[in-house]
Amino acid sequence: MCFHRGFCEDKLVILKCRVCNCSDLKSIVSLGFTPLANALLTKEQLDKPEEKYPLDLVFCPNCTLVQIVETVPPEKLFSDYFYVSSISKTTLENAKKISNEMIDRLKLNESSRVVEIGSNDGYLLKNYVEKGIWVCGYEPAKNLADEANSKGIRTFNQFFNVENVNRFVKGEYLDRREESYNGVEFKVDVIHANNVLAHVADLHGVVEGIRMMLKPEGLAVIETHYVKDLINSTQFDCIYHEHLCYYSALSLCKLFQMHGMEMVDVERTEMHGGTLRAFFQLKDSSVARPASYEKVRPFLEDEQKKGVYNLQHYQSMIWNIERMRSDLLSFVNYEKIKGKSIAVYGCTAKSTTLLNYFGINKDVIDWVVDATPNKQNHYTPGTHIPIIAPGGEEPDFYLLLAWNFKDEILKKEQAFRDKGGKFIIPIPRLEIV
Ligand code: TYD
Ligand code: ZN
Repeated sequence: MCFHRGFCEDKLVILKCRVCNCSDLKSIVSLGFTPLANALLTKEQLDKPEEKYPLDLVFCPNCTLVQIVETVPPEKLFSDYFYVSSISKTTLENAKKISNEMIDRLKLNESSRVVEIGSNDGYLLKNYVEKGIWVCGYEPAKNLADEANSKGIRTFNQFFNVENVNRFVKGEYLDRREESYNGVEFKVDVIHANNVLAHVADLHGVVEGIRMMLKPEGLAVIETHYVKDLINSTQFDCIYHEHLCYYSALSLCKLFQMHGMEMVDVERTEMHGGTLRAFFQLKDSSVARPASYEKVRPFLEDEQKKGVYNLQHYQSMIWNIERMRSDLLSFVNYEKIKGKSIAVYGCTAKSTTLLNYFGINKDVIDWVVDATPNKQNHYTPGTHIPIIAPGGEEPDFYLLLAWNFKDEILKKEQAFRDKGGKFIIPIPRLEIV
């Protein structure tokens, strides 16, 4: 099995850029060996050896893609995924807003069709279902696909790839009692892919699948963590093995261009500390959207002006990470000496990178709280800190590692703060609130 050019099975390290195949990749930072970010441990697994993989970030001077060089097989990463999108109000609100925007923008109605790649528990598609629109999700984690299906949101427990999309457009999955398949390829109006293109090893397979599935008048809406924020806000904890690629608008443009699609609109949203949201249509689309280029061109010009296309822009990251490490460790170690208790708030994938790279373990952190039931009663990868539900004993400090939900969590934990409890927020720079 070969996921893309430059990848070979016995060596999981890429030699060439995942988007453009350039072999002149430039090193940005190396975060050593870390465990897989979502590989939470059960009590029985604590004494067993954990798999660790190198975490090295590189920059492609040709297409500007930032990527890690290790490709962990997707089967190891997603088969029993712990992440449940509906836990966060911010995520739900964001999903509702973009669904409504798409319904307005494309004038979707009962005969429209919407697909989401990586549809999780159906948190986004449910907004379309409520409006009577045909939906289908692709979700490789069985527990989440089952949950979505049980709520009436049609979800395939499959990877979204050329083979599966081929079957889809031929109508092989259609329930003949519900939908009529008349030999015309079954295509869709909207395809959402939120935080997917950062994750997939079969990058070209997914983008080609989008092209195959999209109607000529359709739009693909791609959301992915923005590389500009990764660098400018030192969000280094977003670097972990599930995140293979970190995009600029330009690298995303180039990727879709290789598959006959063009960016017609782009914006930055506040999700996850800075998200790039880009809209793509088929290049030979009969429905031209020329006015939208007015938004794309200045966005790309601004990236260029800010240095996003130059290696030098990325090279300061290592110094910023080291400063962050020294600020955070000085603070927590001093509070520990004074006898204060510190718990982590949010068992995020990000926390695996931060805790392991900074060497913060159960000697410093007493426990981790997380509202996701599947994560509770497990232990953090590499650092072995117990994970419990919020609402029990409270520490003197919460180290907020779900900092991307800062506003939502601070509001939720107002009572803790009223009693004198403090939050330590390490990113983008140390802040105690
Ligand atoms: P998130 O930062 O989105 O993801 P990643 O794992 O990609 O770094 O994860 C947020 C985590 O925080 C998730 O496990 C749910 C948890 N959480 C709470 O426990 N309470 C909350 O109020 C919110 C918003 C999130
Ligand atoms: Zn490249």
